[in-house]
Amino acid sequence: MRAYGKIILFGEHVVVYGYPALAAALCAGVECQISKKSSETNSKNIILDFPQLKFKVTQNDSGTIADALRIILNSIPLPHKPCEIIVRSEIPFRAGLGSSAALAVALSKTILSIHEQNWELSRINELAYLIEQIFHGTPSGIDNTVANYGGLCLVADTSKYQLPDFVTQKIFLPKMTAGLLPKFSSAISLIVVNTGKDRDTKKVVEQVRILYQNNPSYYESVFSEIGSFAIKGYQLLQSQKYQEFGELLNLNHQNLQKLNVSCPELDKAWQDARDAGAIGAKLTGAGGGGCLIAFAPNKEKEVMEQLKNKGWNCFLSQIS
Ligand code: PMV
Repeated sequence: MRAYGKIILFGEHVVVYGYPALAAALCAGVECQISKKSSETNSKNIILDFPQLKFKVTQNDSGTIADALRIILNSIPLPHKPCEIIVRSEIPFRAGLGSSAALAVALSKTILSIHEQNWELSRINELAYLIEQIFHGTPSGIDNTVANYGGLCLVADTSKYQLPDFVTQKIFLPKMTAGLLPKFSSAISLIVVNTGKDRDTKKVVEQVRILYQNNPSYYESVFSEIGSFAIKGYQLLQSQKYQEFGELLNLNHQNLQKLNVSCPELDKAWQDARDAGAIGAKLTGAGGGGCLIAFAPNKEKEVMEQLKNKGWNCFLSQIS
């Protein structure tokens, strides 16, 4: 079973406070594969094997992944079937591309299928949100929703912000509402630059909370400006106003700098991407390291080549 990674185009961090954010699923994600069924294993446990991390964990261990596994098992009112599951990620862990949410969704779907549980997507989303709470503390729900449903998704607290009429489906999350959006008329390519700098979403979200609590009126004004980008950004892409879309990415990055969630590596990548010809770029996800997205319509290859020559690790991703 697979689940998608994601990029946040606009609105990370402010979505935690209910402001709108726009995210898109990546083709790449996390895959869970049953390597030994109950009839083929001597173990009484559910064993998760992460070959890329050279790490195995069972439901009896300590740590966040074992906690996640227990949450899934506790949601199934049946005797648990032992098995072995290989977990492989096509996206880097802890890089702002939603790997934990993709793991939560892919693992939930796999364990539910082993126990012959045929759940609706909305219920799987609720389960994945509980797991995201273990990983991130106070998640908005945007990551697990995109990991679960794919496509393009707008998330906001609809007691404060209305979702636009063109939303095709509403998904109710514990604190927010997500709206799935129509695809773009033509596929959009974005360059994803991985700074390779490790970061922890929970810590970065907490740092923003402390800043906000110390100066709520200033940060509320920054949040509100960032919050105005998501719907506007979607409409700019839909109407192929690429120059303005790129400039909005830059403006979002500059506003994220005010929240102190960028870092020298992300700022260097931001500068290098624009020097190489990208119209716009911004960090994506919690920041503090991780990834940057750059928009360079019709010259992606040249821009990527220049970025690679400067030593950046990057790949091209399509959203639609
Ligand atoms: O860095 P990631 O992929 O975990 O994304 C976090 C996005 C935040 O807006 C910072 C937090 C959230 O829960 O929405």
